[in-house]
Amino acid sequence: MTNDIMTNDPKGLSRVDGRLKVTGRAKYSAEYKVKDLVYGVLVGSTITKGTIKFIDTKKAEAAPGVVSVLTYFNAPKIPGYQTDTPSPKGPLKIFYNDQIYFNGQPIALVIADTFERALFAASQVSAAYAAEPHQTDLKTNLDKGFSTRKEDKDFVKGTADAWKTAPIKVEQEYVIPTEVHNPMELHAIIAKWNAADKISVYTKTQGVKSTQRSIAQAFKLPPENVQVTAPFVGGAFGAALRTWPHEIAAVLASKVTGKPVKLVLSRADMFTSVGYRPYTWQKVSLGATPDGKLVGITHEATGQSSVYEDFTEGVVNISQLMYASPNINTHYKLVSLNVNTPTPMRGPGEATGAFALESAMDELSYQLNIDPIDLRMRNYAETDPGNGKPYSSKYLSEAYKLGAEKIGWTNRNQKPGAVTENGWLVGYGMAAGMFGAHRSSATVLARMMADGTLVLQTAVTDIGPGTGTAMVSIASEVMGIPAEKIKFDMGDSSLPPSPTQGGSQITSTVGSAVHDACVELKEKFKTMAGNTDATNYTQILKQQNLDKLEVTTASKGGAEQGKYSMYSWSVHFMKVLVHPTTGVVKINKAISVADAGLIISPKTARSQMIGGSIMGIGMALTEEVVIDHRYGRLVNNNFADYHVPVQADIPQVEAYFVNKPDTILNPIGARGMGEIATIGVAAAVANAVYNATGKRVRDLPITPDKLV
Ligand code: MOS
Repeated sequence: MTNDIMTNDPKGLSRVDGRLKVTGRAKYSAEYKVKDLVYGVLVGSTITKGTIKFIDTKKAEAAPGVVSVLTYFNAPKIPGYQTDTPSPKGPLKIFYNDQIYFNGQPIALVIADTFERALFAASQVSAAYAAEPHQTDLKTNLDKGFSTRKEDKDFVKGTADAWKTAPIKVEQEYVIPTEVHNPMELHAIIAKWNAADKISVYTKTQGVKSTQRSIAQAFKLPPENVQVTAPFVGGAFGAALRTWPHEIAAVLASKVTGKPVKLVLSRADMFTSVGYRPYTWQKVSLGATPDGKLVGITHEATGQSSVYEDFTEGVVNISQLMYASPNINTHYKLVSLNVNTPTPMRGPGEATGAFALESAMDELSYQLNIDPIDLRMRNYAETDPGNGKPYSSKYLSEAYKLGAEKIGWTNRNQKPGAVTENGWLVGYGMAAGMFGAHRSSATVLARMMADGTLVLQTAVTDIGPGTGTAMVSIASEVMGIPAEKIKFDMGDSSLPPSPTQGGSQITSTVGSAVHDACVELKEKFKTMAGNTDATNYTQILKQQNLDKLEVTTASKGGAEQGKYSMYSWSVHFMKVLVHPTTGVVKINKAISVADAGLIISPKTARSQMIGGSIMGIGMALTEEVVIDHRYGRLVNNNFADYHVPVQADIPQVEAYFVNKPDTILNPIGARGMGEIATIGVAAAVANAVYNATGKRVRDLPITPDKLV
């Protein structure tokens, strides 16, 4: 692989599972054919806070085809729920008590011989409640914020609130609404007990090993008695990072009925059952000298969580790390509301934080009359501003240059609203992103077969970025064999352990393990062949009369990593057109540039960056969960009313890479890019809209009504 800056039309391996996916032969969790299958449909609470007094299941039980109706009042106790150390807060336990914490909380599971019959019977379940007043609006509850950790309450570097002493100041509030992951594939599980103490599940998950652990814990089983299979996952973005109550309910229902149970969430359920990016209020205050040197950054944020569980994320972290300001302080708080618990969503914390920080930096650039890239370069961090450590690798400045060239930054006018094209206002904007680069541990089995086929096995899942493609690329290069000869098996809890696919760490972690396993296998061949250069694997196997040769290699990062700060970096550039009368915003061109170390799989990396940009454009322009706070109920829990960007919204997105190997993080030189693809995008759009119109929108999404 070369170190050249890559083009927007990369060469390299095409998606190894692409053919299976486009021909429909890739099987997703709900698609497995299982004999004697019965179907579950959940019934949600119609109140938002209170107590269930009674659930009438008689009509449902009498409906055609119904096998069972489970509720808190009749469901067998889930063993792991009972013996867990009681703690005041924790994940929602399904059918555990009579308490209602949020609207739509599952109160019953109807199981019938067909999906349609289960759906009808579910409509026949009714409940009586003692309802209590609820709170679902963060805006009106901001004064109830609390911090769960000391560092959230009080991070101070240098002097707190030093921005106030600077001659040039920006102090602004920013709001992002609740956003839902909404992957194309619905969450789905098929659960089947094979013996009294053995269960197998097909389920949508980002981690088969973590799902195995969670189910084993809930049902008090040895982990190896729980088989989790998920070779294909149709998108997740964080929504399948944990095991959700509906999965536990399906496993329970299979136990109760003695039949395999399939449970597929409805699209409406996807809005209340599998987490979301939480509604968050932020205030960023910046102080600078007239020549654009930051004197102080203060970043406060308050996000929402549920009443039963505290979900925290690194909203303010980006302000601790992005710029070389001598003084930085941050506060982060939660408010408990009668809503379901949020969960990480692509760029968790940082995507939210970057919208505020990178909007505020843009505001500062106009106050100073300094180009926004120039302002960032005047405050460029050459070492980690938080701990003073060197970076393992950072080429963000090169990414700025490349992105500026590709968007045509020289066409930007520093004066807002100054440029028009065919009656539309034209604006350019940019914003940066960053996310921690990680490497944890993974084990890979590498087996060379007599026919020269290399089989790689590990329990990782792939939610879409192209894990298999990257792994095959690495093995192909190390072993010196063509990609067609390599098979990558994954998504099966019985394979050697791999981490959950999340936190942009899979290429780094599993890729390094594939690399190490292949190096070890090659060494084994070399020893066998008498230390000659052994690359004719089939011949050596034949000479030794072996049908295969294999190694199982565990791989993880070393202690030297502690000496460095390790991040992936990105910058996003937008050219937008805004209609002066209607306020409609059109993305004319989007450019994303990543510094994510060496790019292992150019084609899938490009797709990953483009997808992240589109997700950020959705965050900027259209996506917003609306709750009717009188009832605590979602208004737009469907794709007709919750708007994700469609083809017509996204005319041209290009992705580029600095493509310099990070030689510290791991032996393959690659860092993650799943999160940085989205982090910063929303601010780039908002900044471009300001450049076009002179209107600063600080509460997402930027809908036309905010611009007219
Ligand atoms: Mo993620 S939010 O790394 O699945």
